[in-house]
Amino acid sequence: MRANKISAVLLAAGKGVRFKSDLPKVMHKLIDKPMIYYPLRALLRAGIEDIVVVLGFGAEKVKEYLISEFGEKIFSFVIQKDQKGTGDAVRVALPKVGSEKFIIVYGDMPLIDETIILELMHSFGEEKFVVTSFLTEDPYGYGRIVRDRKDNLLKIVEERDATDLEKNIKEVNAGLYLCSTRLVRKYIGKIKNKNSQREYYFPDIFQYAISDHIDVKILESKREFLLGANNRVELSEILRILQKRINTAHMVNGVTIISPDTVYIGRDVEIGRDTVIYPNVFILGKSEIGSNVVIENGTIIADSKLSDSVTVKAYCYIDKAIVLKNSIIGPFARLRPDTIVEEEVHIGNFVELKKTHIGKGSKANHLAYLGDAEIGDGVNVGAGTITCNYDGERKYKTVLEDGVFVGSDTQLVAPVRIGRNAYIGAGSTITEDVPANSLALSRVVQKNIEGWVLKRKKKKIGR
Ligand code: UD1
Ligand code: CA
Repeated sequence: MRANKISAVLLAAGKGVRFKSDLPKVMHKLIDKPMIYYPLRALLRAGIEDIVVVLGFGAEKVKEYLISEFGEKIFSFVIQKDQKGTGDAVRVALPKVGSEKFIIVYGDMPLIDETIILELMHSFGEEKFVVTSFLTEDPYGYGRIVRDRKDNLLKIVEERDATDLEKNIKEVNAGLYLCSTRLVRKYIGKIKNKNSQREYYFPDIFQYAISDHIDVKILESKREFLLGANNRVELSEILRILQKRINTAHMVNGVTIISPDTVYIGRDVEIGRDTVIYPNVFILGKSEIGSNVVIENGTIIADSKLSDSVTVKAYCYIDKAIVLKNSIIGPFARLRPDTIVEEEVHIGNFVELKKTHIGKGSKANHLAYLGDAEIGDGVNVGAGTITCNYDGERKYKTVLEDGVFVGSDTQLVAPVRIGRNAYIGAGSTITEDVPANSLALSRVVQKNIEGWVLKRKKKKIGR
């Protein structure tokens, strides 16, 4: 037993029947992350790094996601074969709990953050159990907190088992507890499933503790951090609260968001001051946006880094890319993974970049596909340029050295290297390397047939 450490049990075995979904409930997304991400983030930020996760429906999917997001180290996983209730889920987790006290958190409360967890930890004192509650005008679906005359907890009664009088209670059980491990071990076996759902309700444990005169404290906390998602309607209400919380924090920090109701920014995105975000923009994942950046309408940015003073015009898609200072992207540009755009570059409309590094001050202003390319500084890529990087089996590299000028409608058949300051005439298909400072032309020589139109007309009339 580690005396001072607190571990946590996260309940995530339920199917989420009311979601009517093939996906486990906790894998439904809010902005850019599944629901279960948020309580875990909160636990970690509160310093809790020993977490038992109870899995059941879709266990493999949830486990795989959690390990990919947070690594393996902090978790122990247990499987609850049949979802017989929250009391049963805690019972299954108990053998893996190695601390004297532990937090229980339900996996379907994504508005929770570390301040709530810290508040719970600080409230523990000499208490043997702490139950978190909140007040709500619409308590439907929640377990009600029933207090005695001295305002102490008497019991928690579920919606389906509540009397009409109890249903009027506006104080509800949040699904977040701090418990003495020893006492949970002592009482967990006493919980019965004699209720309308034939389930083992964890909150029933408090009745047994209370009848043995053991202290159960109620910590009243905030609704907007504790709402649960039992269906997609509740999920959308939670999404709105989360979106507003995140966007407000950025605005307070000096970011202009023109229409915050239409902008979705992931929990872990960083944005510098004086950046302006137009309507209908999504910035997701581990994106870092500098200051004085402009992001216009309809743009989606995921796991990307934009340095200071970058402008992204309307309707761009930027995924796992890096764009350095003063560059201008779009409108209608697509930057695919492993693209690096150096400073002062112009990427214009209908230009797609994939695994391409484009040097300082270079330009690809219209209609181009540049894949697996290494492009130097001061390069001009004409309209309609295409890197033919794929032969159906393998991908090959295109290199354009500094100062190259690529005429419009050129195909660069990779692997191919264009030397410094070389020119490529418009309409060329380049299959061989081009030496520095030379001109490459590969199009058919033009021939003019004089008077051809007149001759043709005469012929027609003669017929
Ligand atoms: C639960 C509480 C209720 C509280 C509400 C707060 C119980 C009996 N009821 O009700 O008092 O007001 O949360 O949102 O605890 N789970 C398992 N295994 C199971 C059953 C559930 O892991 O056998 C997990 C679910 O995946 C979910 C969480 O426990 O993440 C809560 O279960 P859910 O069915 O959503 O409980 P509620 O009916 O919302
Ligand atoms: Ca719930």
